[in-house]
Amino acid sequence: MNLESIPRRELPSILNRMPKAELHIHIEGSLEPELIFEMAQRNGIKLDYPSIEELRAAYAFTDLQSFLDIYYAGAGVLQTEEDFFDMAWSYLNRAKADHVLHAEIFFDPQTHTSRGIPFATVIGGLDRAVRRGREELGVSASLILCFLRHLSEEEAFAALEEALPYRDRFIGVGLDSGERGNPPEKFARVFARCRELGLHLVAHAGEEGPADYIRDALDILKAERIDHGVRCLEDADLVARLARERVPLTVCPLSNVKLAVFHEMHDHNLGRLLQAGIAATVNSDDPAYFGGYLNDNYAATFAALPELGAREAYQLARNSFEASFVAEEEKKGWVAALDEFFAAACGEKA
Ligand code: ADE
Ligand code: ZN
Repeated sequence: MNLESIPRRELPSILNRMPKAELHIHIEGSLEPELIFEMAQRNGIKLDYPSIEELRAAYAFTDLQSFLDIYYAGAGVLQTEEDFFDMAWSYLNRAKADHVLHAEIFFDPQTHTSRGIPFATVIGGLDRAVRRGREELGVSASLILCFLRHLSEEEAFAALEEALPYRDRFIGVGLDSGERGNPPEKFARVFARCRELGLHLVAHAGEEGPADYIRDALDILKAERIDHGVRCLEDADLVARLARERVPLTVCPLSNVKLAVFHEMHDHNLGRLLQAGIAATVNSDDPAYFGGYLNDNYAATFAALPELGAREAYQLARNSFEASFVAEEEKKGWVAALDEFFAAACGEKA
């Protein structure tokens, strides 16, 4: 494929239409202000903000913690199985519109069980949406349970215990919430247990926290993918290792700018990660809070970074399929669809 033959002016349309996977989306972060207000009303919950506009205006974050405070408050409107279904169903429809063929979706059960919502309610609604998404939308999706790293390992073990009767409804575990001061080793034993259980393992690392946390997530937690990981560029040996071992990074550009990991998109290191041979992917993280869904993330990065062209678009989409936790056969089918799409864009036969 002669990807260089694709004119730059065609890139926005190609980015929108190319088949892709999303591997880093917190479902609670897809809760739009409209849905927060609707659920608050139907559940009789009083919000701190008088209108949708005023809630949205509060989405001016200075760092990760300033976002998490609002994000956990927003999730407080989720009460019934229907609420969890509606949230996930809304995301899956949005994903379909962005030509997402496959999504691996994070959820934070402790945010809900700590409010007295049974785990069965959470997983019941999310799982129903995932199944319906496959059948009605043709979007493949699976769930990854995240432990909140600002809580203790003991609480993570309790969350795992509660989830185990529903083991067939999630494919892995992750680690999210405030990174600084909550290093990977805090969760060494619970991740070891999850590994024994045959669950896939991922962890947020190197978003706000140092590059060392990325190495520890690999060595101590045995994470198969690193969520964010953008601070790896501060450590040349680590970069070489990530490239050599093909450890995927699930990068979230709009999130990084909104949470001041990078000052502006022009400063983002996505192009440098790819140039270093790292299997980076593009993802939306918390699209309702950070100004856009998956295609908005592709559009914003390619508009701001001149080193990203058709070759990188293809590479990022390909990485997203190859880094997913599905059978090789399924990956091959998606990569074939991607090849066909780009061959057509080049005016060639696949
Ligand atoms: N939870 C939701 N979004 C997150 C992020 N970007 N980092 C850590 N925890 C999160
Ligand atoms: Zn995240």
